[in-house]
Amino acid sequence: MHVVLGVTGGIAAYKVALLLRLLKESGHDVTVVPTQSALRFVGEPTWAALSGRPVATDVWTDVHDVPHVRIGQSADLVIVAPATADLLAKAAAGLADDLLTNTLLTARCPVVMAPAMHTEMWEHPATQDNVATLSARGVHIVPPASGRLTGADTGPGRLPEPEELFAVCERELARAAAPSDQTAGGDPAAASTADPRADLAGLRVVVTAGGTREPLDPVRFLGNRSSGKQGVALAAAARDRGADVTLVLAHGEVDPPTGVDVVSVSTALELKTATETAVAGADVVIMAAAVADFRPAHYADRKIKKTHDPGDPDAAPTIELVRNPDILAGLVTQRGSTPRPLIVGFAAETGDDTGSVLDLGRAKLERKGCDLLVVNEVGTDKTFGRDDNTVHILRRGQHEPVADLGPAGKDVIAHGILDAVVAAVTTG
Ligand code: CTP
Repeated sequence: MHVVLGVTGGIAAYKVALLLRLLKESGHDVTVVPTQSALRFVGEPTWAALSGRPVATDVWTDVHDVPHVRIGQSADLVIVAPATADLLAKAAAGLADDLLTNTLLTARCPVVMAPAMHTEMWEHPATQDNVATLSARGVHIVPPASGRLTGADTGPGRLPEPEELFAVCERELARAAAPSDQTAGGDPAAASTADPRADLAGLRVVVTAGGTREPLDPVRFLGNRSSGKQGVALAAAARDRGADVTLVLAHGEVDPPTGVDVVSVSTALELKTATETAVAGADVVIMAAAVADFRPAHYADRKIKKTHDPGDPDAAPTIELVRNPDILAGLVTQRGSTPRPLIVGFAAETGDDTGSVLDLGRAKLERKGCDLLVVNEVGTDKTFGRDDNTVHILRRGQHEPVADLGPAGKDVIAHGILDAVVAAVTTG
């Protein structure tokens, strides 16, 4: 694919060299279009060496090639990172006074912008209006992260990490390449008329993610191998599609995305309380968390010593477990006969003597009573902690999966799951 990487004059331009490398390593042709200010932060040789191409810096070089039109027309994706307040204002107004702004006017492919600036500039009503205008036109705005800015100050305005921007690029390219009449859920009419970037606008979506930890004593717990990546990718994807997202996040390996409400929890019982609170008034709840089915019956408030039994110094303790409540099944009961929220469960299955992964998934969907079940095969080298995933989505009342997704990145899978959610919400 041909990606145009627009770089504007912000200190975060240095981070974008890593984004360029990620794009190149995954096989894309990248044309870097830095503004004159960007070149004061990172020079032309860096962009040329990392992209392996000459760097277009103004509309007057190679005029016979008409670069101000050709670069935008031939792009499969344009990403501007960092996007300064000045660039956002120019793009919103449709100005075309340099190569990058000309490119933005001629591009007909997906456009992603990652604003980065000081908090005051980001929060200024002029910038916010420009962002709203661009977003309404279909530009994918990646909201800035909160954190350390150029100086000692902190706040929203930081460029998200290159890996996060790369994931957005990959997803936009995958979505653009996907035939629009093959959306999961079998509702091509809904798929072709909906704005792919705003089809969850106005909906409240609750996502649970990560693995719970059930404490045994102050230093030990029973846990599981969930990384939280798929749930966090779902929260980010739902945010990008316009939903108001609450992420109930247990333990994992990834930070929560920006732009969603995060409720941090540790145990299954905490996750239950937080989820039941969050689902009030929600339209969709997605239970991606790996919830412990059991917890120690007794919590020792002091560390259990190796020689815990004075009568037998070699004895190993026996841990008694009790069942945790089934939160997903509880949500289904709590909802009763009302259609909302739409409830999506996950099934981690290995398959066994009694049936295949899909057979066990069908039985679990029946047992749990949710609307959609995302079935994935788990095993030592599958799913947990990995960046890619393969899933089948089952819908209540249908024998065959409504979608078989992957292997693909967890963000691409997240959008496939949300396509099935949109189809289920649309068709009732
Ligand atoms: N889940 C839940 N509460 C639990 C256990 C699981 O809400 N106590 C949810 C998970 O978030 C997931 C779904 O139920 O959405 C299925 O989880 P899974 O671990 O695959 O199934 P279990 O119910 O634990 O069934 P089994 O152990 O028989 O596979």
